Amino acid sequence: MTQNSRKILVTGALPYANGPLHLGHLVGYIQADIWVRFNKMMGHQCTFVCGSDSHGTPIMIQAQKLGITPEELVNTIEKEHQADFKGFYIDFDNYYSTHSEENRELVETVFQRHLKKNNIAKRTIKQAYDPEKNMFLPDRFIKGDCPKCNAKDQYGDNCEVCGATYAPTELKNAYSTLSGAKPIEKESEHYFFKLQNYEKTLHEWTRKGHLQEEVSNKLDEWFKSGLQEWDISRDAPYFGFTIPGETQKYFYCWLDAPVGYMASFKNLCAKNKALDFAEYWDQDSKTELYHFIGKDIIYFHALFWPAVLSGADFRTPTAIFANGFLTVDGQKMSKSRGTFIKAKTFLDHLPPEYLRYYFAAKLSHHIEDLDINFDDFTLRVNSDLVGKYVNIASRCASFINNLFDGKLSATLAEPKLYQEFVDAGTNIAEKFSSRDYSQAIRQIMALADRANQYIDERKPWTIAKDPARLSEVQDICSMGINLFRALSVYLKPVLPKTAENIEDFLQISPLTWQDINTPLLNHTIKKFQPLSQRLDKKEIDTMKAAVQNDLDITTSNEKVEAPFDFEPIKETISIDDFAKIDLRIAKIIHAEHVEGAEKLLRLELDLGHEKRLVFAGIKSAYQPEQLIGKHTVMVANLAPRKMRFGESQGMVLAAGPGGKDLWILTPEDGAKPGMRVK
Ligand code: 2FM
Ligand code: ZN
Repeated sequence: MTQNSRKILVTGALPYANGPLHLGHLVGYIQADIWVRFNKMMGHQCTFVCGSDSHGTPIMIQAQKLGITPEELVNTIEKEHQADFKGFYIDFDNYYSTHSEENRELVETVFQRHLKKNNIAKRTIKQAYDPEKNMFLPDRFIKGDCPKCNAKDQYGDNCEVCGATYAPTELKNAYSTLSGAKPIEKESEHYFFKLQNYEKTLHEWTRKGHLQEEVSNKLDEWFKSGLQEWDISRDAPYFGFTIPGETQKYFYCWLDAPVGYMASFKNLCAKNKALDFAEYWDQDSKTELYHFIGKDIIYFHALFWPAVLSGADFRTPTAIFANGFLTVDGQKMSKSRGTFIKAKTFLDHLPPEYLRYYFAAKLSHHIEDLDINFDDFTLRVNSDLVGKYVNIASRCASFINNLFDGKLSATLAEPKLYQEFVDAGTNIAEKFSSRDYSQAIRQIMALADRANQYIDERKPWTIAKDPARLSEVQDICSMGINLFRALSVYLKPVLPKTAENIEDFLQISPLTWQDINTPLLNHTIKKFQPLSQRLDKKEIDTMKAAVQNDLDITTSNEKVEAPFDFEPIKETISIDDFAKIDLRIAKIIHAEHVEGAEKLLRLELDLGHEKRLVFAGIKSAYQPEQLIGKHTVMVANLAPRKMRFGESQGMVLAAGPGGKDLWILTPEDGAKPGMRVK
């Protein structure tokens, strides 16, 4: 570490351990990872921690539904998250969990310190309660008709049809999504954090440069409407930490989630003796603390969290960096539109660094939403990374490899041009430091253009034809390789894997920001291997097709829609309507997988007098060979439907919540193909 090296702790928002990561999540993690990598390259002692947000009702419910313990669910999902992070080169120094002993101790410390300062109130409140499940219901587990526009099946806090917000008690025909029961109101004693005690402190803090301007302005609105006490307790059953002195009351997961940042760091300190917990978290800490978060959780981080920390005699964050939401092809991510792209699906089909680059090319220090348009994505990657950047190396390396045995010249052909590249580094570093990555990328690509222009002007391929001018070729191409190396330094925070490959190709130790000051001369490089491939539209199309077939997506802790949630019975139909449905026994004479479809099986059905082809979404529950020879029931008079994989001529009946739990009807006794089902 250099003398000016800073001690920086960076956190990524702890993802809920109940569902997969999607591209929207990745905006913040990639933004943070680039920043951490940049700071590490600058020689700062930068530590990046994260972990699972493991507590809360949705995790408990999801685990119950899957018949496993919450711990098992958290462990499974945590592994998936870690694999996704690794896949995108998001390199945490520690990944831990809010369900840990370190976190329990820290939350209790925070709580006791606030109790002592009289910052905790206790009072009885009324809340919605499911009398069948015997539990209080978070708003998201209550549905009913919107009190304003009567739209059916709206969540307990807002209407997705007319946009109204309301209390769950205002919903008409309310029902619990867990049991279908009508919620009752029940009293219970809760613990409240008196946020209003910190009104003055927070008001000052939010204006002292710790927040983006847009955030400070938003907070002003909240200050105007007055800070409210914050309910930090939840009744059993709950998955979390019990409140000291209680057996049936737990800390609300949003209290222990940010404390989880501290717990993850504490856990790292135990493994790395060079790090001292107190040095980073004591009130008078000289170190820096940054939280990267999504804009939806600003309230928790910019109001509750600094108040919770300062009242508990810990340091407050140096800054909170919020990012916007991601839209896909201009649309809000949505399962039905097929724009809900899981991190894993992207990784299965496309190079992760291309996403890092694309996000970097669009990110600034503001909170604006960011759009991934896949045509633009393809163009950008192909033109910038392949066409401009990597092209420099591929144009020069073959000459160096083939004509000079991999040896670079002993002097720089154009020291002035090289100095231009070095000088640009100050500005580029500033842009990385202020998270204006799009501006950094613009400058780096302008330099790449300059490097290509140099090679175009000097035309080594023409000079190489003249044996007397070979040393000129070596000089030009060595110059090109050095410009490429400088660009690789600047792009390393964004493209860490490519940087590694380049370090191997150039036979150098890991690049640091300072390396740019010393050009690579009189040095032997390896044979050039292609570093980035052109992206083909077909690859994007294949990924998009896979997205259509993605199942089991839960987006956030509050929005878990488990596969066997209670579903209200639909509107009644008349007996005449029912009589129109022609149900027939069908024999499955052939069944097979459908290439490119994750949910579908292609069934060939014998209806006695005719055969039908039907695509059925039952692949999650059946192997084709299990089905062949079985009888089932089909809707024989459903109009044929064109699907992506062919025409479906009817529908087989199946029951169940989905996933493995799906059963086709199998009337075996005396069933004959073509018989009517009455
Ligand atoms: O909104 C979320 O996804 C939360 N799990 C983020 C928690 S961040 C921190 F407070 F732990
Ligand atoms: Zn409404």
